[in-house]
Formats: sequence, C-alpha cells, structure tokens
Amino acid sequence: QTDLPLHGERVLVTAGGTREPIDPVRYISNRSSGKMGYAIAEAARNLGATVTLISAPSALATPAGVTRIDVTTAQDLLTAVEAEFKTTDMLVMAAAVSDYRPATTAMQKIKKQADHEPLTLHLTETADILKTLATVKQHQFVIGFAAETQALLANANRKLAAKKLDMIVANDVSKPGVGFNGDTNQVTMLRPEHEPVTTPLLSKAAVAEQILLTALQTREEE
Ligand code: PMT
Repeated sequence: QTDLPLHGERVLVTAGGTREPIDPVRYISNRSSGKMGYAIAEAARNLGATVTLISAPSALATPAGVTRIDVTTAQDLLTAVEAEFKTTDMLVMAAAVSDYRPATTAMQKIKKQADHEPLTLHLTETADILKTLATVKQHQFVIGFAAETQALLANANRKLAAKKLDMIVANDVSKPGVGFNGDTNQVTMLRPEHEPVTTPLLSKAAVAEQILLTALQTREEE
C-alpha cells in the first residue's frame, strides 16, 4: 500500500551470530538466535518496505515476502552487506558479529594435546562492517546495535560516534528478558543531538516497530 511509511524504500537487515571456523568441525560464535533481526525484517515489511535479510546461522524461518541471503562468517557478512548497501535506504545491523576469528583455520580436526598440554588459539580482529560502510555512506540511514553487559549508555555512545551511525540501539544483555535469544527486549535508542529514548520490556516485534518508527521520525527531522 502506498500510504505505508516505508513504501518504496529498500531496507537491509542483518541478523544472527556469525561463526568463525577453528577447524572443520568447530567454530567460535555467540548466543544470537536471530530473533531481533528477523523481527525487524518483518516489521519493515509490514511498514511497506522491500526487505533484504542477511542472516548468519539461525533456526528461524524466512519471513514471508522477505529476500534472505545466508552467510556464515563476519567476512561473508561484510561482503554481502557491501554488495547490497548502495541500493539500500536504511540498514539495520542487528547481527552479532564476531570481533575476532582464529588467525588460521586448521585443515584437519585438531587433536587433543599430548600430556594434557594447554592448547592456544591465536585470534585476529575481523573487519568492522559498520566502520567500513561509514567511508562509503551516502543517503543511507544506518542503525547499529550495542550489546553491552556494563556501562550501557557510555559504551553505546562511543560506538555511535566511532561507527558514524544515525542511530544506535543499546540493549543491556545482562538483564533478564533483554537481548540474546528470548522473545522480548528492552532498548535505549541513541541518536546524535537527540535525547535518548528508552522502551519498556516489550516483545521483539514491538521493539522492532518502535526502532523503525523512531528512525523514520529522526530522518524526517534531518
Ligand atoms: O538474535 P537475538 O537472539 O534476538 O539477540 C539480539 C541481539 C542481542 C544479538 C541484538 O539485539 C544485538 O544487540 N545485536 C548486536 C550485537 C553486537 O554485535 O553488538 P556489538 O556491540 O558487539 O556491535 C556493535 C555494532 O557493530 C552492531 O550493530 C554490530 O552488528 C556491528 N559490528 C560488530 C562487529 C563487527 N566486526 N562489525 C560490525 O559492524
């Protein structure tokens, strides 16, 4: 319907937790289920957008009417986001991206060490996707997330500035019902030169809609 607020717009959403391979059978990852990102993809579709969802591994079904691209590692995610970014009007990075990956991936399954010696894994930084995009950003409205266990607003504000975002959605993942895996979330939305907006604890569907409506309102004011 042409009267919907995101009609005619292309929204790109990332979801899920990336996996960084250690050897053919093991990886480093995190607790993201994909629920928050998938809820944003659905909410954007309901608001009239054409939605592409780039998904790191998740057990969730693809929302109807949404184009899904599957990725595994942070590098795959970067490549996929870069390919879509130019034609996107709004990007929402809800994916939990590994900050580090094993420096090398063993070709064969790593064996237990002799004599119970400790095994050391060397990790190397992954590319920061949002920082990379900041260098090519044009008209796109870019929303990041911040998953924090301490100093929520200070850390989120630092990421808002460092990643040159239009909005960051901060969730205190140390609180029950907030962040990873469950069906609810509570977030504080931070934007440059705006007062923070905090939601109550709500379903991820309701949080998703509030994020998109707040983003639209913010963009209109710019
Ligand atoms: O999937 P669920 O189980 O529903 O859980 C939802 C969630 C907790 C994963 C989600 O609400 C959330 O907070 N997602 C972001 C998790 C995260 O990676 O946060 P961060 O503070 O480490 O990263 C900050 C931002 O930079 C994020 O938008 C992230 O996508 C992005 N990032 C991170 C690392 C990296 N190398 N490149 C990035 O672009």
